[in-house]
Amino acid sequence: MLVAPSILSADFGHLARDVKAICDGGCDFVHVDVMDGHFVPNLTIGPVVVEAVAEAATKPLDVHLMVENNTFFVDLFAPQMPEFISFHIEEEKHPHRLIQKIRGLGIRPAIVLNPHSRPESVEYLLEDLDMVLLMSVNPGFGGQKFIPNVLQKAQRMKELIERRNPKCLIEVDGGVNDRNVHDLKAAGVDVVVAGSYVFKHENIRRAIESLKV
Ligand code: DX5
Ligand code: ZN
Repeated sequence: MLVAPSILSADFGHLARDVKAICDGGCDFVHVDVMDGHFVPNLTIGPVVVEAVAEAATKPLDVHLMVENNTFFVDLFAPQMPEFISFHIEEEKHPHRLIQKIRGLGIRPAIVLNPHSRPESVEYLLEDLDMVLLMSVNPGFGGQKFIPNVLQKAQRMKELIERRNPKCLIEVDGGVNDRNVHDLKAAGVDVVVAGSYVFKHENIRRAIESLKV
C-alpha cells in the first residue's frame, strides 16, 4: 500500500516541520487538499502555501482539488509540479479535455468520485487516467467516519480498471486507519490518504508504517 498523509490535519503553524516529518517518516506522497469554499463548505490553501509545502517536501505532491473552477485551479497549481492533480467528476463538464490539459502540463491526471458517484461514471476515461480517487467520506473536512461501502465500490472500480487500463491506480481518501486499511488492500486499493490518523498518532513514522500493508 502506498501512503499519502493529508496535510489538512497538520499543524499549520509548523507546516514545514510536519511536511518534513511525514516525508522522513516514509510516506509516498504528500496529499494536499485544496478547497474553495464553494464546491465544499471549507476553505484551505492556495498556491503560495503549496509552494512552501513543495519546498519542504522530499516526496511528490498529490493535489486534490475540491473546487468549482477546475481549469483555473489547475493553472494555479501546475507551477508547483505535483505528481498528481485530481479533480472531482461531479464538478466537471469536460473531464476528458481537462485530463489532456493536466497531462500536457507534465502532471499525472486523476479523477475523484464522491460517495454517491458510480464507478461507471468514469469508465470511458480510465484509459487516459493515472489514478482514480474514491472518497470514503464527504469531502470538506478531516476526521470524519469512514463510509464502508467504498470497499464494494473499489472492487467494482478494479474490475473496470483491469479491463480498460490496468496501470491506473485506485486511491481512497477519508477516515482511513490501521483497522480498515487491510480491507482496502483486499478490495484492490493501491494508495490510501490519511490525515487525522497520521497526525494524531503519537509517532508519525509508526502511523505510516502501520498503513503499509
Ligand atoms: C476530505 C479530504 C481528506 C481528509 C482526510 O475532504 O479530502 O484528504 O483530509 O482526513 P481524514 O484521514 O482525517 O479523514
Ligand atoms: Zn483529500
